[in-house]
Amino acid sequence: MALDTKKLQSEAIEQIAEAKDLQKLRDLEVYWLGRKSEIALFLRTVKDLPREQQATLGQQANAVRRAISQAIGQRRGILERDAFAASAAKDRIDITEPATPFRRGHLHPVTIVQNQVEEVFKRMGYMVLDGPEVESEYHNFDALNIPKDHPARDMQDTFWLDNGLVMRTHTSAYQVRALQKYGAPLKAVIPGRVFRHEATDATHESTFQQMEGLVVAENLSLSNLIAAMKALLSKIFEKQVVIRVRPGYFAFTEPSLEIDVACQVCGGEGCKTCKGGGWLEMIGSGMVHPSVLRAGGIDPQKYTGYAFGLGLTRLVMSKYGIDDIRHLAGSDIRFLRQF
Ligand code: FA5
Repeated sequence: MALDTKKLQSEAIEQIAEAKDLQKLRDLEVYWLGRKSEIALFLRTVKDLPREQQATLGQQANAVRRAISQAIGQRRGILERDAFAASAAKDRIDITEPATPFRRGHLHPVTIVQNQVEEVFKRMGYMVLDGPEVESEYHNFDALNIPKDHPARDMQDTFWLDNGLVMRTHTSAYQVRALQKYGAPLKAVIPGRVFRHEATDATHESTFQQMEGLVVAENLSLSNLIAAMKALLSKIFEKQVVIRVRPGYFAFTEPSLEIDVACQVCGGEGCKTCKGGGWLEMIGSGMVHPSVLRAGGIDPQKYTGYAFGLGLTRLVMSKYGIDDIRHLAGSDIRFLRQF
């Protein structure tokens, strides 16, 4: 079988030059150079040709094969470049387009306010102390002048643990520990979670945050306490807030005061948060009872003290105008994202 190498080469190269895409080029490669191509079939028969023709015809066929292969390589390079340019134009990345915003986490509103209040106290020279959430009955009650069977125990419904310890019902539980540890004079705040076995409503949670304050020095009086509370509240609210001071009862202070803040949700008009009264009970306080000072190893003849228990969670409600305390311990992300 003879092979018209010239015709075959020009025909192949013409087709290759016209191949529009890589697939078409692959098809042409199979057609012109594959195992069943004219050249391959011819090369398989070279050995049967007369000896004197074998070398020449074989070389010619191989030269055509190389030329076609080279043409395919070149065309492939061009087509690949074009394909890449086309896809780059199509999938263009706009580096100036603003990225999808990445939502970062943030502190819980109670933590935000707790940090702010701690800062206010630190600037006024207070130490910030940390007490245990699980307390002895002695520190939570007895040392605070609330022995067993004292009616004051009923003021704070208690979670008792099987081992006789309690989930502290107030941060006052740390008062005597602080007195024993640091002595007098003393200026300290003790923030933390407290627990009460009570039904919840818009202003009551069973787990909430308090911040205890304890100041012991010579010659302190009730007017020091009231002045300190006024200064504290206006610093925290960053404005003068209207407060109301009422006589109260706590077994560990004498005399005792309750301090209410005008409801910031309704401006004092009356709403669900203040139960229509226009006021939010915010701080329990008083002059430290001599028996508490004594339990802390402090001489009540020489020293006086005042103490206060700030309802930190209620403060957060007031500061941000939150109408239900239960939002704060809930995990509704739509609520928490507002802070
Ligand atoms: C006490 O817990 C006293 N230990 C406070 C105290 C400290 C008095 C030092 C004298 C000296 P009371 O139970 O009233 O007091 O709570 C103090 C504050 O915690 C309240 O004024 C209120 O703001 C907040 N509070 C009380 N109960 C709840 C509750 N269930 N949920 C949210 N906040 C509460």
